[in-house]
Amino acid sequence: MSLYNYVWTQNGITAKDSLVYPFEERGLQFGDGIYEVIRIYQGNYDLLEAHIDRLYRSAEAIRLKVPFNKETIIASLQELAEKNAVQTDAKVYLQITRGSAPREHTFPDVPSNLYAYIEESPRPVAQLKQGVRTILAEDIRWDLCYIKSLNLLPNILAKQTAKEKGAFEAILHRNDKVTEGSSSNVFIVKDNVLYTHPAAKNILHGCVRNRVLTLAAESALEVQETIFSTQQLLDADEVFITSTTSEVMPVIEVNGNRICNGEPGVITRRLQLAYEKVSEIQRTASTS
Ligand code: PDD
Repeated sequence: MSLYNYVWTQNGITAKDSLVYPFEERGLQFGDGIYEVIRIYQGNYDLLEAHIDRLYRSAEAIRLKVPFNKETIIASLQELAEKNAVQTDAKVYLQITRGSAPREHTFPDVPSNLYAYIEESPRPVAQLKQGVRTILAEDIRWDLCYIKSLNLLPNILAKQTAKEKGAFEAILHRNDKVTEGSSSNVFIVKDNVLYTHPAAKNILHGCVRNRVLTLAAESALEVQETIFSTQQLLDADEVFITSTTSEVMPVIEVNGNRICNGEPGVITRRLQLAYEKVSEIQRTASTS
């Protein structure tokens, strides 16, 4: 997928090829930083404020100084989209690290490094329609997964295993209790009740997850933010995952077991449509 030419850094907007970091960089050497992935539909940001609020929460949790206030970050990201004349469906990747400094574990006294770039990102239209296959994987991450940290090794390994097994996502569990996906949140529907893991410290508090909970409440669907087991997942009437790039993605298989006869469920479809409506997605605009 192609990258747009201009990137935003703490020193302003510049051409992406002019951006060079030393190899003694905290993100590179320690994964000492945080990030956000934010959706752009037809050139317009979606859920921008929610993502920036989460960025500050992640920064505070790892004692990282964000070099700008919220208003400046939002204005700069808007400027970046304008400068790149983004018209398509895309996503912005925003990363902040603890800066460039000689390698030593303790915090250096240097400014943070920040960059944001925009990449074209068509909606996964076919998968949203048909649903996706998933596998189960042990959640071997640390306790503070609400921090959107650069340390993604367990997520990468789980997603790679999913890919090798022909699946779209790995659904993670700790001692048979489902936490979230390797890069998504997980929901099940059973007897017309929607269940998802509580927004505790061991999962990422997804922006799409929050929006789906609001939509569910608005449609008078009963919601329980409660922990459920892998067996409940397998026995669910419907399963779906949510994320910035996957939106409300129906799950039709877990570890080779079909969910909902291998079709996206009715409640999933309803939430998917409500989600599209609220994020003002122009469905015809992108292909996949
Ligand atoms: N991933 N859980 C994890 C572990 C994630 O990495 C993500 C997002 C989510 C969903 O969060 P949101 O609804 O705010 O996108 C849940 C992003 C897209 C990524 O890292 O690519």
